[in-house]
Amino acid sequence: MSESGSESDTAASTHETVGAAPALVEVRGLRKQFSIHQSLLRPSKGAVKAVDGVDLDIVAGETFGLVGESGCGKSTLARLLVRLLEPTAGAVRFQGVDIARFRGSRLRQQRADMQMIFQDPFGSLDPRWRIERAIAEPLRAHGLRGRSQLRTRVETLLNAVGLDESMADRFPHQMSGGQRQRVGIARAVALQPKLIVADEPVSALDVSVQAQIVNLLMDLQERLGLTYVFVAHGLDVVRHVSTRIGVMYLGRIVEQAPTETLFANFAHPYTASLLSAIPAMEQGRRHQRIVLSGEVGSAANLFHPRCLRRQQRCEVDDPTLRELSPHHFVACHFPLTSRTDRVDFLATATHHEPGLPRRP
Ligand SMILES: Nc1ncnc2c1ncn2[C@@H]1O[C@H](COP(=O)(O)OP(=O)(O)O)[C@@H](O)[C@H]1O
Ligand SMILES: [Mg+2]
Repeated sequence: MSESGSESDTAASTHETVGAAPALVEVRGLRKQFSIHQSLLRPSKGAVKAVDGVDLDIVAGETFGLVGESGCGKSTLARLLVRLLEPTAGAVRFQGVDIARFRGSRLRQQRADMQMIFQDPFGSLDPRWRIERAIAEPLRAHGLRGRSQLRTRVETLLNAVGLDESMADRFPHQMSGGQRQRVGIARAVALQPKLIVADEPVSALDVSVQAQIVNLLMDLQERLGLTYVFVAHGLDVVRHVSTRIGVMYLGRIVEQAPTETLFANFAHPYTASLLSAIPAMEQGRRHQRIVLSGEVGSAANLFHPRCLRRQQRCEVDDPTLRELSPHHFVACHFPLTSRTDRVDFLATATHHEPGLPRRP
């Protein structure tokens, strides 16, 4: 393609951090199924393949952005990464060791190393506990003793997340959403983890507060040397924080690339539809939002029933992730490989009734 040169330039510039360092987390063949019960009296009706064969390396120090529509399996993957869920198949290796094998004190250390930040900090904070207790709890569980010692550490952590020490005496309901998320972040960094998986950490916050929380997370990453997996449903949120982005569709990663490569040279039609949902695309040209329609595949977690570029091959041959250019992976038989392809696709994409993907 005429622009393949520019594509690899972009990849090379964003990729130094990705290519050289060994992976902190290696995900291999990861699957998680949930069985669907129609009712208590009836037997299992089937299974939802929430995560359906994910391979992924997370490199120390990077921010891996994970995006996709609601229900595509982002939270399930996030929870599998920190062992809040057990996989149906496959493995998550942390510094080379399968996390499913950790027991006893090694498991406790492992839990300290891998923390999670949730979308709704209200839900993860006990409403009856003052903030001091909420932040001290993980410290205590990991052996820090002494009331004054704990108090000092809690105050340091509050300051680190931009809150006044006096907040220690409040209850969650006496704080704003942004302040509560800061407490959630303080809890997550309390044990000096290596990896933080943030599951839509700003989705529930006012737009005005979102940037502050994102900036705080970025500051902490630099100060504490953290590695992030940052989950969001839209590409706009992850664009400014991620070194690489993975686009998820019904349990699978369908495109993955360094951030600049993904925005400049997106190849999967589904990624194009996510990009078209961003209000002001930086190409500076007018575009219309591509609204996906069509049935979600029932035999497997396939995209082609909703794809505007599908051809017969897509119905019989399930595309796997392949490397389109260095560090740029796509699972599509007919990816958008040139600028003309992409511009035409965005321009000619027809418009359908709005509809989120439905699970089979
Ligand atoms: N505990 C569960 N039991 C049954 N189904 C679940 C469970 N958790 C998630 N699912 C299903 O798995 C799919 C993926 O969900 P989730 O990982 O929450 O997606 P996302 O975070 O991208 O919105 C959805 O169809 C959801 O209904
Ligand atoms: Mg979720």
